Amino acid sequence: MMNSNTTRPSFPRRPRREDTAIHFGADYNPDQWPETTWAEDIALMQRAGITVVTLPVFSWAHIQPDEDRWDFGWLDRIMDLLAQAGIDVDMATSTASPPAWLTAKHPEVLPTTRTGETLWPGGRQQWRPTSPVFRRYALELTRRMAERYGNHPALVAWHVNNELGCHNAYDYSDDAAAAFRAWLRERYATLEALNDAWGTAFWSQIYHRWEEILPPRLAASEPNPTQLLDFRRFSSDALRNYLRAESEVLRAITPEIPITTNFMVMGDTAAMDYPSWADDVDFVSNDHYLDSRPGGIDELAFSASLTSAIAAGRPWWLMEHSTSAVNWRPVNPPKLPGELARDSLTHLGHGADAICFFQWRASRAGAEKYHAALLPHAGADSRLFRDVVALGRTLTDLSEIAGSQSVRARAAVVIDYESWWSLTQEFLPHTRLDYRGQALDWYRALVSAGLRVDVVTPHNDLAAYDVIVAPLLHVVPTELAERLRTAVVGGSHLVTTYFSGTVDEHDHVILGGYPGALRDLLGIRVEEFSPLLDGDVAVLSNGATGRMWSEEVTVTDPSVQVLRCYEQARGAAAGAPAVTRRAVGEGSATYVSTRLEDEDLAGVVTELLAAAGIEPDLPEPLRGEVIAAVRRGDGVDYWTLTNRGNRDLGSSADVADMLGGTPLGGADKLGVTDAVVVRVPRG
Ligand code: GAL
Repeated sequence: MMNSNTTRPSFPRRPRREDTAIHFGADYNPDQWPETTWAEDIALMQRAGITVVTLPVFSWAHIQPDEDRWDFGWLDRIMDLLAQAGIDVDMATSTASPPAWLTAKHPEVLPTTRTGETLWPGGRQQWRPTSPVFRRYALELTRRMAERYGNHPALVAWHVNNELGCHNAYDYSDDAAAAFRAWLRERYATLEALNDAWGTAFWSQIYHRWEEILPPRLAASEPNPTQLLDFRRFSSDALRNYLRAESEVLRAITPEIPITTNFMVMGDTAAMDYPSWADDVDFVSNDHYLDSRPGGIDELAFSASLTSAIAAGRPWWLMEHSTSAVNWRPVNPPKLPGELARDSLTHLGHGADAICFFQWRASRAGAEKYHAALLPHAGADSRLFRDVVALGRTLTDLSEIAGSQSVRARAAVVIDYESWWSLTQEFLPHTRLDYRGQALDWYRALVSAGLRVDVVTPHNDLAAYDVIVAPLLHVVPTELAERLRTAVVGGSHLVTTYFSGTVDEHDHVILGGYPGALRDLLGIRVEEFSPLLDGDVAVLSNGATGRMWSEEVTVTDPSVQVLRCYEQARGAAAGAPAVTRRAVGEGSATYVSTRLEDEDLAGVVTELLAAAGIEPDLPEPLRGEVIAAVRRGDGVDYWTLTNRGNRDLGSSADVADMLGGTPLGGADKLGVTDAVVVRVPRG
């Protein structure tokens, strides 16, 4: 590649694509291929109806081959080709993977693990979010990208870095230590306040100087839990701060170009507190990879709904998913016929205005050569590519949905990142509580009852929901307890579980009996936890079984109704309450003191909905069989129905008819791997 000069090119500007279409695209890595393949790439993209590509995510080493050498020539050429082809570019700042010359010259930018090991180059994302040296180089690259391409006709959005925190969420280096101290000073102002919050009277941990404080590096025993929680908060903030640094450079040069960065709301990815990042991007985007085990589609919808909540109901972009197999699980099966479109439409139904993939052309070499792409190793003459072309047509059929807002459901499951984090400590009554898995169980139970379900965070308007299920809501600051009380008094029906309300924002136990912050609202009191050993079960009065946990619950308010008792449990007397419900104001507060099996959870949900007078959202034949999501357009609602069961649900026309609408796009029938979008006129 030739060195090119750094003068800003003057491209003719064309009007930006209006938001009247669902974008369809992929990560595109043209610099990993000879330029002779580019013409074919573009022709095939046009055949598939690709409207947007993300590039150059991992190209720093190509763009800046050495400290004072820059090569934008190849990028200029591909940008021009894309513009001529009418394909937009979501342009990555290319800072995700620093080049070898940089890390060789400045090994001090490399992250350090908790055990003091260096994360060396050879993979990707080997940089410390707090390194001033990394930042100097990365922001220089960002500035040059903005200056060079800010006016390019293909540019529609800036894509900061890539999946911030994916491989470097926790860094325990000296840079991190210094930034952690600065963050703590900001949070606590005085050492006295910090010592108090961290409970350092315990185990002689009192700090007398800020310099004494370290990240929670490998210690001789379990580290201080509040230090751990604060380090989690700090690490998320450090990455957000990095996002802000790049964004500042971009905004100063191209204030009119929207900025995003791809979040990772999926599976067990928990390091980044995305609800607090949402205001830092102009539009939210997310990466999601299907869990190919049974029930994976529920997890996909759960994640898509949470993404929509983080985006406050506004349209967002699905920046990455996979056409078929991934390469990074122990076994990576391909998607079944239908699943490619089903997954895309399920995201779209939950608010995605762009359906994009990793990646355009399957790699020949490198760690991801067995990861599916839009254009597989087999080439365009393949079932996969034909499915991609068909998806492009489907998304065109669905254009009128673009820009429409998600319609809030009546039931919500709450995900609270701080509770999630606090449940990852090593010293707990039970260390395998599976925070997200438990939330997903409740989500499934509500969906099985025929409801539309939102997954929300405490940042969302909880009082707007008729049903709020907040399992394992462990960290409950006074402000959150108050909001929940207000919601319940105003008519919401709250369900929470064991180990909720237990600690405040400093991870200090709320005294006087569990579940601390929620004790009065629930009208119960628990003196001791009784987690269950593996294989141990608690038997309830109706024959239901609970795992993981049991408790001796005492009812403290006479209005509390006992819905289930323990019959036989390690920590509860026979006849002691296991599930309780208290009517409060216009609503109610329910407590479930053990982890119920799925069918028992379904039973509790059915009873609670009946008691609250909440009817299912779906017609009888579809209840429990589909995941439903709704977006609202002008005089019309768009229902996306995703088959989640193992039964063919009939023709899409018949299914649409049940909702009083007509099919707008998607499969002709709602088979087991299908989704359909239905247009339902309102009013
Ligand atoms: C994402 C990443 C992509 C690619 C993809 C593979 O985490 O952003 O670059 O690695 O995973 O599934």
